[in-house]
Amino acid sequence: MNAASFERYEGMLKVTGQARYEGEIIPEGMLHAALIESSVASGELQGLDASRAAALPGFAAIVTHTDAASLKPSAANALIRETAVHFHGQPVALVAADTLAQAREAARAVQVSITAKPALTQMDQALSSAYSPATVGRFPAASRRGDSSKALDDAEHVVRNHYVTAVNNHHPLEPHAVVCWWENGKAVVHTSTQAVFGTRAVIAQAFDMQAADIRVLARFLGGGFGCKGQLWWPWMLWAMLASRKAGRPVRLELSRAQMFTLVGRRQETAQDLALGFVDGRLTAIEHDVVAQTSSHAEFSDSTAVYTRFLYACPNVSTHHRLVRTNEPQPVPMRAPGTAPGTFALESAMDEAAELTGIDPLELRVRNFADHDQESGRPWSSNSLLECYRVGAERFGWAHRHRQSATQLDRWKIGLGMATTLYPAIRQACRARVSLSRDGSLLVQCGTQDMGSGTYTALAQIAADALGISMEKVTVELGDTSLPDGPFSGGSQVTASIFPAVEAATSKLRAALVRAAVAKATSPLSGKPTDDLEFRDEMIGSRSSNAGERLVDVLARAAPDGLEAEGESPATDHQNLAATGMGYGAIFVEVGVDTGLGEVRVRRVCAAFAAGRIVNPLLARSQYIGGLIGGIGMALHEQTVTDRTTGCILGKSFADYLVPVHADMPEFDIAMIEEDDPHLPGGVKGIGMLGTAGIQAAIANAVYDAIGKRIRNLPIRIEDCL
Ligand code: MOS
Repeated sequence: MNAASFERYEGMLKVTGQARYEGEIIPEGMLHAALIESSVASGELQGLDASRAAALPGFAAIVTHTDAASLKPSAANALIRETAVHFHGQPVALVAADTLAQAREAARAVQVSITAKPALTQMDQALSSAYSPATVGRFPAASRRGDSSKALDDAEHVVRNHYVTAVNNHHPLEPHAVVCWWENGKAVVHTSTQAVFGTRAVIAQAFDMQAADIRVLARFLGGGFGCKGQLWWPWMLWAMLASRKAGRPVRLELSRAQMFTLVGRRQETAQDLALGFVDGRLTAIEHDVVAQTSSHAEFSDSTAVYTRFLYACPNVSTHHRLVRTNEPQPVPMRAPGTAPGTFALESAMDEAAELTGIDPLELRVRNFADHDQESGRPWSSNSLLECYRVGAERFGWAHRHRQSATQLDRWKIGLGMATTLYPAIRQACRARVSLSRDGSLLVQCGTQDMGSGTYTALAQIAADALGISMEKVTVELGDTSLPDGPFSGGSQVTASIFPAVEAATSKLRAALVRAAVAKATSPLSGKPTDDLEFRDEMIGSRSSNAGERLVDVLARAAPDGLEAEGESPATDHQNLAATGMGYGAIFVEVGVDTGLGEVRVRRVCAAFAAGRIVNPLLARSQYIGGLIGGIGMALHEQTVTDRTTGCILGKSFADYLVPVHADMPEFDIAMIEEDDPHLPGGVKGIGMLGTAGIQAAIANAVYDAIGKRIRNLPIRIEDCL
């Protein structure tokens, strides 16, 4: 297909308020829900007295662990079935009432009795209890290739450092919400999720229901970043129980403060990294990660996994450990694993460049891995060297001055660079296309659009395949009554849906081509089928001007319209012939205010290679969005837990800083074309690529400006004074 920069399919619907978010669905007789939260970080719920609350006006129902006892147990719903309190702010009950104000007042009137237990509220209190998980995501938690310890002893240059990254929260503009009801034992659940089918599976398991009796909808999302892909908001099930109990629809929407505690977080990491070099070539890498997980469930990012293969190195050992604390549950968040992992690795590479006297870019080029050394497989495609070349050229890397050479008034200017990467993955899925008599096309897939362009990509791929204009295409997403769509996460949606839509449209094309050539009076009669193409709402001959209108052929082939489904396979990680990986090279210029210590990113130039680009306009937007997320992690975002109470401090945008327009640098984005023969459709994910690497690039630029190595994120003003 041809790449084309169409604007967002649903853009106008969103900016004019016509796009209905699931939390905006208001069914007749709907109740509003409020959660009652624990004020201790660890303890046991002894009892709840709702008698005063029940007498208040508007009160309809209270739901607690007792009601949830009817659910089938699973790790995903343990928090709502049990009386154990694992973190400050954990809900212990849900109250539903006629209005939100009444629900909140009734929630306040419930007498809650919890006995407190000693709590571990910070990772550093519990380092001695660190343990190794079995896996980190789909990877082994530990790896060993060669003998890194001996190679470090023998190395000519060694960089050995400790890196720390803070807890971050996702904070999509649209918070989590659910509006749910029951109809004759069947459930309808409108909820802001990155996975309607995954959510349906959780509900089916908990309520022991047939999946077909549950409909989950998420047709428009105001962002996700990972927190809506996870099933760690079991309070949605409480809302469903409340609806069943009261016999009315129930709406629960989380507050911004609750978004800090109830829907996951990027885990804190402490990383020890050692690099050994001989002759400017990596001979040894050791990367050990300790990260926080909650006291009730295990999660580990794949933080050191990418260190196993980003550079050529014969001796590599990596290790992940976890520490359980009485804090909220970590989940994947914007470039999970690669963001914290590349911060350590790419910061250390910058130090190595200085130590070995080799330019940071040249050092990376010298240590380029020409195949995946961890699996022994070739890359499906790898244009990292081209990213380095193009990025450096556009940024002007060769003309830079070293170390604090540039000063503008109070500002010291520094330059830095780093590498980013993200695996190309796919999920099995299906899509349906239906061509109507009037030539309009309906494309249906039960995936979601987080705001990153899924509607647009689907419309484009289908329109391109049938040679019709985008205006003729309607796309339906975010509904379990549609064909199984992929989970919107892991930067895999476009790569996943591409083959399914191609397969579905090629069935339509085959039927239409048959009908076109079969009719004696058609201008295409008797033409060889490989001479025919779909263009401009026609089926036309490549070799002559002959052609027939698509609607006329359709009228013969199928007067009531044509429908077809297509499927995509999942990535079979065990049996891959080649490792699929997207790469990028990120160059930044920062200014550091020598009086105030403030760091400002002045310029970002990034070159990315991620297979086939379907829509350059939206790809650029995704890259910039990713880079901004990375700037946030580097300079702004930090969720802080109070050591004594375990309460998250400053649960608002007044205290949790995110980059705003005034923080935006100039972005120069280069996209390197790749023709990847191994990946179906040639598509790799792009969403996460911009969010990693830039943290280290910024830290390296800060060093270039003021000569301070900062090895903790976020980089704070006091680090730079
Ligand atoms: Mo993601 S962090 O897989 O939405």
